Amino acid sequence: MTAPSQVLAVIGQGYVGLPLAMRAVQQGFRVVGFDVANERVAELRAGRSYVGDVHDDELAAALAAGFLPTSDPADLVGFDVAIVSVPTPLHDGKPDLSAVEQAARTLGPHLRPGATVVLESTTYPGTTEELVGPILDAESGLRAGVDYHLGYSPERIDPGNQQYTLINTPKVVSGVNEASLAAVTAFYDRIVERTVPVATTAEAEMTKLLENTFRHVNIALVNEMAMFARQLGVDIWRVIDAASTKPFGFMKFTPGPGVGGHCLPVDPSYLSWRVEQHVGRKFEFVELANDINEAMPLHVFERISALLDGQRKPLAGSRVLLLGLAYKAGTSDWRESPTIPLAARLAAAHAEVVVCDPHVAPVTVASLPYPLVPFSADELAAADIVVVMVDHPSFVPETVAQSSSLVFDAKGVLRGLPFSGEVL
Ligand SMILES: NC(=O)c1ccc[n+]([C@@H]2O[C@H](COP(=O)([O-])OP(=O)(O)OC[C@H]3O[C@@H](n4cnc5c(N)ncnc54)[C@H](O)[C@@H]3O)[C@@H](O)[C@H]2O)c1
Repeated sequence: MTAPSQVLAVIGQGYVGLPLAMRAVQQGFRVVGFDVANERVAELRAGRSYVGDVHDDELAAALAAGFLPTSDPADLVGFDVAIVSVPTPLHDGKPDLSAVEQAARTLGPHLRPGATVVLESTTYPGTTEELVGPILDAESGLRAGVDYHLGYSPERIDPGNQQYTLINTPKVVSGVNEASLAAVTAFYDRIVERTVPVATTAEAEMTKLLENTFRHVNIALVNEMAMFARQLGVDIWRVIDAASTKPFGFMKFTPGPGVGGHCLPVDPSYLSWRVEQHVGRKFEFVELANDINEAMPLHVFERISALLDGQRKPLAGSRVLLLGLAYKAGTSDWRESPTIPLAARLAAAHAEVVVCDPHVAPVTVASLPYPLVPFSADELAAADIVVVMVDHPSFVPETVAQSSSLVFDAKGVLRGLPFSGEVL
């Protein structure tokens, strides 16, 4: 007789939780996908995936294999492993861990001796042991590290990345003690190709924040340099290309219209907040990077205004086509996208704003006051200025260059092509 499959509960069925749930089903777990959003659960049950990296046929196969999307906590009964992948946003600039707390309160009553709980949500060092463990202990009457295993494993998923997936990206794992680390590692060894154990949960939590702060700071560095280079009459893109030929000690980052998504505009501030709380000092690099990256949409706005001015066209009344609502190429995720503040600023200046993003489902942007238009030569030609905000592969650079009367290219995709306009 074969052993019954282990029950995995994934709390939070979003960009992180759903792909993990799919993978675990394929690896033989009986997966309960718990989410508080009833409409998301209904979509999943109907076989419709709202996460770009999970296709409907993959979801259908998972449902057929027993995947249970649910918002009923009673379905969590008897879980062997639980992963928490709920949002960790900022609220008034401070970490908002209410979803993590709520998830722990939901899991606690169903926690059994020997089970394992892993937090995957991005957060400041200390959260697993200081916040999640005590809630689970209180709700279950068990003790973390003694009666059940507790750990943290940061998610490195990169939506839209075809080369590095959940499976082949090494996964940092940690536990509150040796036994917990062993249990957490054993679970992920069934999910990913390589696990990277670290000594404490705080180390694992901070690893994620180092990775994202590194990206955030380096993007801010090239953004600031791009603005100065222009004033110095130097082409920053050619400078970056040249510097990138150095085989060691340099990593390529390119300028853009600002940062978006759930990670870069948020995660470094978790670390900065923790540093200020515990050390009483500001994390200067993070603060500066925030300032520079948050100011990029304003810089783009000013460049658009100046380009239109040069054509004797007032911004007010001009039709501005923004190419890209998602925060980066190949994804439908438009949370914190720099296109949003730019569009708002343009609309406030009475420009006629239209947005094009074939990756974003119109229903998800119904609340936005800008029409979504298709990517076509006619739409490009109808705009007084076209702004490249995202380098989606479907935005064919040659078509943009040929069909638009004026372009501001904030992603450098038109470099080398003949077109009327400027690159960031
Ligand atoms: N999206 C990414 O690329 C990415 C990458 C690495 C890490 N992360 C981190 O992973 C975490 C989750 O991010 P995401 O992008 O998957 O978020 P998401 O918003 O796509 O999904 C989170 C889901 O959790 C649900 N939820 C909220 N509170 C809940 C609760 N108490 N119980 C059950 N479900 C609840 C929401 O309804 C939502 O469906 C965040 O901490 C994020 O910073 C995200």
